[in-house]
Amino acid sequence: MSNSITIKTKEEIELMRNSGRLLAKVFKMLDFYMKPSLSTMDINNQVEDFIVNELEARPACKGQYDYQYVLNSSINEVVCHGVPKVKEILKSTDIINLDITLEKDGFITDSSKMFIMPDASPLAKQLAKITYEATWAGIRQVKPGARLGDIGYAIQRYAEFNGYSIVKEYCGHGIGREMHEEPQILHYGSPNRGLILEEGMTFTIEPMINQGAAKVKTKKDGWTVVTRDKKLSAQSEHTILVTSSGYEILTLREEETLL
Ligand code: MF3
Ligand code: CO
Ligand code: CO
Repeated sequence: MSNSITIKTKEEIELMRNSGRLLAKVFKMLDFYMKPSLSTMDINNQVEDFIVNELEARPACKGQYDYQYVLNSSINEVVCHGVPKVKEILKSTDIINLDITLEKDGFITDSSKMFIMPDASPLAKQLAKITYEATWAGIRQVKPGARLGDIGYAIQRYAEFNGYSIVKEYCGHGIGREMHEEPQILHYGSPNRGLILEEGMTFTIEPMINQGAAKVKTKKDGWTVVTRDKKLSAQSEHTILVTSSGYEILTLREEETLL
C-alpha cells in the first residue's frame, strides 16, 4: 500500500475515467458470456483475452502479490479471492462474484459483480440483491465533507437490517496508480467518524456480506476466503471518485445508468 492519500488532478481523473469505462465493458461482455458449465479458468482466460486484445489494457491483478490470474472468481460460500481453476465448473444453481482490476495508461480501476446462474435459489438471489443495494447505500454517502464512517454505517445498517452480516477482515481501498492505496474503506462504522472525504479522492467500496455469521477463514491455498459456517456470501465493488458535489462511479455499467 502506498502510505498517503493521493488527490487526483484533472488529467489523472480523466485517465481514471477511461480505465473505469473499459472495465465496465468487461462486465458487459461477461453478461453475454457467463453460463453454467464454464470453468472458472475459462472465464479467467476469456477476460484476459478481452482486456489484452479488445481493450488493449493490462489486467492489473495478474502478477500483483504473486497472483497468477486476471480475476477472482468467488462461488457461493467463497467470500473473496477465489482462484480460477480448470476443474471448477459453474453449476446452474451457483452464484459467483467476478472481481476484476484493469490498468490503462498507468491508472487502475477495480470492480466486481455477482452473476446469478438460472437455477439459483431465491435466498441466494436475495443475498446478491441486498449486497448490491448496500454498496449503493454506501456510495450515496460520498461527497466532500462526508466521513468514512458515514459510508461504513450506511452499508452495515442496510445489510444488518436485512438479517445479514458484514465481513470485517477485508475492506475497500484508495486506488489510482496503485491497486491498493490509502485509505482503507471499512464497510461498517459510525456516522460522523473517520477520515473526511475531499474532492479528487478515488477509492473502492466493496462490501462482502454473509447470509449467516460474519466469520471467515482462508483455505490452505492461501487465497480462497470462505465463510466459517459454509453459508453463502456475496460482494459488489465499484471505483468511486469524490466530485465537488458528490460522487462519480468510475466503473458504472450501462445497465446501471438508469438507476
Ligand atoms: N480486486 C481485489 C480487491 O478488490 C484485489 C485482488 S488482489 C489479487 O481489492 F491479488 F487477488 F488480485
Ligand atoms: Co476488486
Ligand atoms: Co478492491
